[in-house]
Amino acid sequence: MLSLKSETSPDWVARLEPHMDEVLIDHAHCEKKAAGTAMNMIFSYVEHPEFVVPLTEVVEEELLHFRQVIEVLVSRGKKLVGQPQSSYGRRLSALIRTNEPDKVVDRCCVAALIEARSCERFTLLRDHLRDPRLADFYGTLLESEARHHALYLRLAEHFATKDVIRDRLEELAQEEASIVADGDPTPRLHS
Ligand SMILES: [Fe+2]
Ligand SMILES: [Fe+2]
Repeated sequence: MLSLKSETSPDWVARLEPHMDEVLIDHAHCEKKAAGTAMNMIFSYVEHPEFVVPLTEVVEEELLHFRQVIEVLVSRGKKLVGQPQSSYGRRLSALIRTNEPDKVVDRCCVAALIEARSCERFTLLRDHLRDPRLADFYGTLLESEARHHALYLRLAEHFATKDVIRDRLEELAQEEASIVADGDPTPRLHS
């Protein structure tokens, strides 16, 4: 799906399901980080209006998702608490090259892959969670994450050719698949 090089097994939902409060806390942090990623790119490339204007919508949508996840947590009698950074995000960020324009291409490709993995996982949660309200909630988030995936790849085209982006996306997607295969000891959306 959407550039990914590995497919998550539906068993993943069964493993996560007993820990949905922790998963929702992780999810809230992911939405906050997604808003931060888009905002950081606005700061870095502010002199490119055609690049930053679409990102303002991503910031708004991710903050809306963040708010929605907090509301779900509150409805379950839980609240958001801090958590250590996930190895998934840290290891993907470490792959971003440091010289421009490689850096911006990598930032866009990594963001696109994270959006794609979120979209894949939200689809599984929609289809396999036994709690119908939670399943419906994940169904409502799918479309925008798929759209963000496509947007980040389109934005990269302001800085590199389609061929260059495709080749780098291919490499980073292989890395993403191996990082996700290593998993995380705690129940997380990207573990
Ligand atoms: Fe989101
Ligand atoms: Fe997103």
